[in-house]
Amino acid sequence: MTIDFLKRELSSVLSKKRYEHSIRVLDTALNLGTIYDGDLNKIAIAAILHDYAKELKRDELIKIASEHFKLETQDYISNVEILHSYASAYIAKERFKIEDTEILDAIKYHTTGRKNMTLTEKIVYIADAIEPKREYPHVEKIRDLALVDLNEAILLEVNKKIEYLIKHEFIIHTNSIEMRNWLLKIS
Ligand SMILES: [Fe+2]
Ligand SMILES: [Fe+2]
Repeated sequence: MTIDFLKRELSSVLSKKRYEHSIRVLDTALNLGTIYDGDLNKIAIAAILHDYAKELKRDELIKIASEHFKLETQDYISNVEILHSYASAYIAKERFKIEDTEILDAIKYHTTGRKNMTLTEKIVYIADAIEPKREYPHVEKIRDLALVDLNEAILLEVNKKIEYLIKHEFIIHTNSIEMRNWLLKIS
């Protein structure tokens, strides 16, 4: 399965805006993959498919999550922002026959992160947050950090994300908190 094939498949299910975001995540992730000597094939597949389910209807996202990721998603079932990651991983496995858990996990945890992430997971997570068109406070600092210290970049990103979530009284996924605690411990 080639990246060009997956790009074509993606362009048939996403709006132009979201498709172009995914392409920027792919380019950002490949750059980081080169810097950190990652598996570029795995990184590319995970990056291109990470938002595949982003435009599925709410009902479909809830159905996939409750049928296939019941335990992991039951506390977040009303949060489609979190569910699209699980649904994208599900489609990667079912439709595109991807069995590699490193690829599937990088898709599944690209929104929340989690503790003990692999290099592929870290790269897809942070590439999604820093692709060139992302704009939010401190993104430039996070972008610069990502080129020299992936863990520090993710730590700063998740700190800023948690601050934002608290400010707006949004739910914080426990995976994000566990990722932050893990990064504090290892850095
Ligand atoms: Fe996403
Ligand atoms: Fe994304």
